[in-house]
This record gives sequence, C-alpha cells and structure tokens, in this order.
Amino acid sequence: MAEVVLENVTKKFGDVTVVKGINLQIRDGEFMVLVGPSGCGKTTLLRLVAGLEELSEGKILINGRVVNQVPPKDRDLAMVFQNYALYPHMNVYDNMAFALKMRKVPRAEIDSRVQEAARILGIEKLLERKPKQLSGGQRQRVALGRTIVRKPSVFLFDEPLSNLDAKLRGQMRAEISKLHFQLKTTSIYVTHDQVEAMTMGSKIAIVNEGVIQQSGTPMDIYDTPVNKFVAGFIGSPPMNFFAAVVQEENGQTFMQAEGFRLRLQGDLANKIKVKGLKESLFGIRPENLHDAEFFKKGDGFEVFSVQVEVVEPMGAETYVHAMAGKNRFVARVTPKTRARVGQAMQLAIETAKIHVFDKQTMNALR
Ligand SMILES: Nc1ncnc2c1ncn2[C@@H]1O[C@H](COP(=O)(O)OP(=O)(O)O)[C@@H](O)[C@H]1O
Ligand SMILES: [Mg+2]
Repeated sequence: MAEVVLENVTKKFGDVTVVKGINLQIRDGEFMVLVGPSGCGKTTLLRLVAGLEELSEGKILINGRVVNQVPPKDRDLAMVFQNYALYPHMNVYDNMAFALKMRKVPRAEIDSRVQEAARILGIEKLLERKPKQLSGGQRQRVALGRTIVRKPSVFLFDEPLSNLDAKLRGQMRAEISKLHFQLKTTSIYVTHDQVEAMTMGSKIAIVNEGVIQQSGTPMDIYDTPVNKFVAGFIGSPPMNFFAAVVQEENGQTFMQAEGFRLRLQGDLANKIKVKGLKESLFGIRPENLHDAEFFKKGDGFEVFSVQVEVVEPMGAETYVHAMAGKNRFVARVTPKTRARVGQAMQLAIETAKIHVFDKQTMNALR
C-alpha cells in the first residue's frame, strides 16, 4: 500500500534545470505513466523518487512521509531499468533470489517468493537456465521477477520495453498490465512511447522539457488535449494541424485555410464567435477525416478536396497522406477507398471534432 506525492519537485544539474516544479499525486494502487520525448527529464524524475538523485527543490512524500532524506534502500520501492542486466553466471532462480539473499531473508521465504513470481510470469520451467539461454522476452520477465520478489510498495519502471522488438513489446505491455491487475502495486512507469502510455496507464502525465503539460486518464487527454504539444504527442498517426482565418458571412462562420474552406456550425462556431477569433491554429485527428465517397454525408460534415501523395493500406483501414494547399493531412479511411497517388480526392471532415489552439500560446481553446 503506498501513495506517492510530488510537490514542486525540481532538479538542477549545474545551471540547467531539467525537472521544473513537478506536482503529481500517484494514488495507492494506481499505474501512472509519465510519457514524453527523449531528454525531457523522465529518468531524472524516477531517480529522484528512488532516492538516487538529490532534489534541488521540493518534496517527495510516500504515504504522507517526506522521504527527501531517506536513503534508497529504506524507501521500499524497486526500479526496473531500461538497461537491466542479469547476472550472467547465475541461473534464473538465483538472479531472482539475489536481492533477498542480500537482505538475509530466510531461505524458505525466498523460495516461496521466487516460485510465486515465476508462476505469475510463466517462467517456472526456466529457473535452472542461465541468462544467455533465454530469449529477450524471457530475460525481461526475469528482470521483472527480480523486482516482484522484493514485494516493494512502489514499482518504478524506466522504459523497460524499449530494447524489445515491436511484437514482444506488445506482448510484454499486456503482461505488465496483467501483472498490475494481480498485484495492484502502486507503479510509476516512464516511456517515450505514447502507445504504452495510452494502453497501460490508469492515469498518464505528459512531460515536456521538465514540465507536466497535462495529466489525466488516457481518453480524457486524447479527447481534450490542453495544448498543441499534447495534441500532437498523443495519437498515432498524429493529429493534423493547419492555420486558418475565421470569416463571418451572413451570420455564418467559415474557416479559410490555404487550399480549402469549411463552414463551421454548432459549438465550435459559437466558441469561435464568443472568443472573437480571427486567425488560429486548428487540429483534426486522422480518424475524423473520411473518404467522402464512402461516407454518409450529413450535418456536421464538410467536404473538401485534397491531392493524394501516399496511400498506405493497413488492412483494416487505409492511411491516406494528402495535401490541401501547403497543408498536409493524414486521413484514416476505409480500405475500400479508391484514392490514387497523384489524384485528387474528397475528404469529409467532422467539424465538431476540430480542435482550436491559440496562435501565440498554443493552448487549446475551451
Ligand atoms: N547527471 C547529469 N548531469 C547533467 N545533466 C544530466 C544528468 N542526467 C541527465 N542530465 C540531462 O537532463 C536532461 C534529462 O535527462 P533524462 O532525465 O535522462 O531524460 P529522459 O529520461 O526523459 O530521456 C537531459 O538533457 C540530460 O542530458
Ligand atoms: Mg530516460
């Protein structure tokens, strides 16, 4: 049982501040994913929580107790690193038992914990093997097993899947989620991979340049990103952005972008009117652009013409890369599409799904 609270957590290396006043609460049993591009301060933040770095400012609390001065070994947490190393000369059993032996845990207790972890991870039959006799995925399971046997109150994961190939990464993602469902141990998981964040996190926090941009449930963040950075970071293929000028004509609202013009209705038109917007940055996710030929047209949809540049059939859907003026769009359309490279096509856009960002601050308009 553990709750972790970060209050104004700040870390400077010399003159450079890499973690800037982070406030975050990780509730008991929560699986919090911190996601952000490489170099944004994720590893540093985890090392601060683990006690491997000293804070420049702020507080870290575990179960309400400030742990700033508590050494790593007394924080009751366990970290799985990006570059985990198993002891090559020890078999799987001994690799998992090692930390417990060092702590003088009784032999029978060690045995039951190792057997239990091996069962949870499905590696009971590998206990006698040496690391070099294991596949990458099996090794990763052993690294997890080593952490599980310690029964910490908090797991810290630092990009544990980044060295695995795509298929294995998908499997291990699901396994770590399953593991968390069984153990319900409070976890902080950092990754640069937004797919891991979306699929694994009960809560996620998007970090950029040492600052939390937004935190919440994955779907909340996906549906209502607070700024352009978050909007572009979460989602694959990413959101399309385009600049446009707002025009009012005979009580109707239009958006004039380079290469196309859309009529806006409903909430979006009202919001634009209320804010008195003239020029803005707009965003639309690929799944909110459809091949107009196969799409039931109706209220809330506008059609515009684009020039097709690339067609990528994915099987269940097709990604069409297209240009309207200088604006580039990726649309996720039906595999029945007749889009051809070098030809024009009509896209239907769900205007209610358009996101609006302030041109100066890049914050989303609410
Ligand atoms: N010990 C250190 N001394 C100086 N700069 C560091 C140190 N550790 C990390 N940094 C810098 O802090 C920034 C954040 O690094 P890191 O936390 O590793 O990012 P991430 O894990 O998100 O890729 C980077 O610019 C990195 O170069
Ligand atoms: Mg890192």
